[in-house]
Amino acid sequence: SRTYKLAVLPGDGIGPEVMAEAIQVLDTLASKSDFSFQYDHQLVGGAAIDAVGKALPAETVAACESSDAILFGSVGGPKWEKLPPNEQPERGALLPLRKHFGLFANLRPGLCYPALTASSPIRPDLVEGGFDVLCVRELTGGLYFGQPKSRTTLPDGDIEVIDTMVYKKSEIERIGHVAFKAAQLRRKHVTSVDKANVLTNSVLWRETMLEIAKDYPDVTLAHLYVDNAAMQLIKAPRSFDVMVTENLFGDILSDEMAMICGSLGMLASASLGKPKGDGLYFGLFEPSGGTAPDIAGMGIANPIAQILSAALLLRFSLGLEKEAVTIENAVRKVIEDGLRTGDIYTGVEGTRKVGTREMGNAIVAAL
Ligand code: NAD
Ligand code: IPM
Ligand code: MN
Repeated sequence: SRTYKLAVLPGDGIGPEVMAEAIQVLDTLASKSDFSFQYDHQLVGGAAIDAVGKALPAETVAACESSDAILFGSVGGPKWEKLPPNEQPERGALLPLRKHFGLFANLRPGLCYPALTASSPIRPDLVEGGFDVLCVRELTGGLYFGQPKSRTTLPDGDIEVIDTMVYKKSEIERIGHVAFKAAQLRRKHVTSVDKANVLTNSVLWRETMLEIAKDYPDVTLAHLYVDNAAMQLIKAPRSFDVMVTENLFGDILSDEMAMICGSLGMLASASLGKPKGDGLYFGLFEPSGGTAPDIAGMGIANPIAQILSAALLLRFSLGLEKEAVTIENAVRKVIEDGLRTGDIYTGVEGTRKVGTREMGNAIVAAL
């Protein structure tokens, strides 16, 4: 029987609360299978700053390096916002982890379950029957990492700040291939989102997507400017299959997509590097949302994004497709059974409001 080593980095805010439920789910799966998980719990983010003085201790990186995959909660919060930007949890831990492991492909599966359409804030007829959009976000380029990046006080006392948007063609190509390959397994349509009417970056992005499309004659390609994409996502979510875009646009559009699906608390993500050759990827798996300081510590956060992130880990890093589907089906079942954490509860007949633990327990019971 095989033992998989997972680096577990719960982080801050609701991170530890939702992580506990994901671990409960993984343990239950393992108890019914011939494999087991060995967890290496490590500090990251604000929790690491408080304990050892830095957001990403060397020990945490080492634990990730010697694991099969990283299960990540989320990091950051008001307590650490006054630190120098590079020492804060987000820029001091999460972005360096993504860069260190070359995790350029961020997959965010926006799934609106038919049973959950009442939780979507948009018009019922637009989401009826549910829908399914996959956001493919480039994760290690663009404004997040481009140099120069600076803040300077000018001689006249004014302050100048610089963030630089940088992409290499090769970086656009590799994320493009991820999107087209994903579309081949789905409804065979890619929407590339850019701002080619203004940004030089986006002109190259669009050119490159057009070139790549020639390798995938079974997939159709459409282009949208990012402002229009934000609108179309609300107006016609069903017109999307795979959406591919650069780092910052993907950050923003994926929160919008999550909310149209019902809640940010439902949106999982997989951050993947190059394939390892056996069809599997080293990856970091985390909810798309943050530490939710407004509800942290209250036991009411939705654990589903974390649990579905664990399912993505099984699929992409361990090749446990059947077990990933088992988790996804269990989540679907509790939603169909009417269980709702506060973020997705609307009072609709046949539904019941539950906390983090009760939702986790129900998913475990449905496995
Ligand atoms: P957020 O993304 O944490 O939450 C936005 C809103 O969604 C809040 O009202 C929150 O309560 C709700 N929400 C999010 N996840 C939820 C869940 N699982 N269940 C129920 N409701 C949920 O908000 P923010 O203000 O953008 O970020 C807070 C902190 O988290 C910041 O420090 C930010 O940098 C950080 N952050 C970290 C990550 C990460 O580590 N991956 C991602 C996003 C934000
Ligand atoms: C996300 C988060 C991060 C991002 C922050 C916390 C750096 O918002 O994963 O979506 O912007 O990538
Ligand atoms: Mn985000």
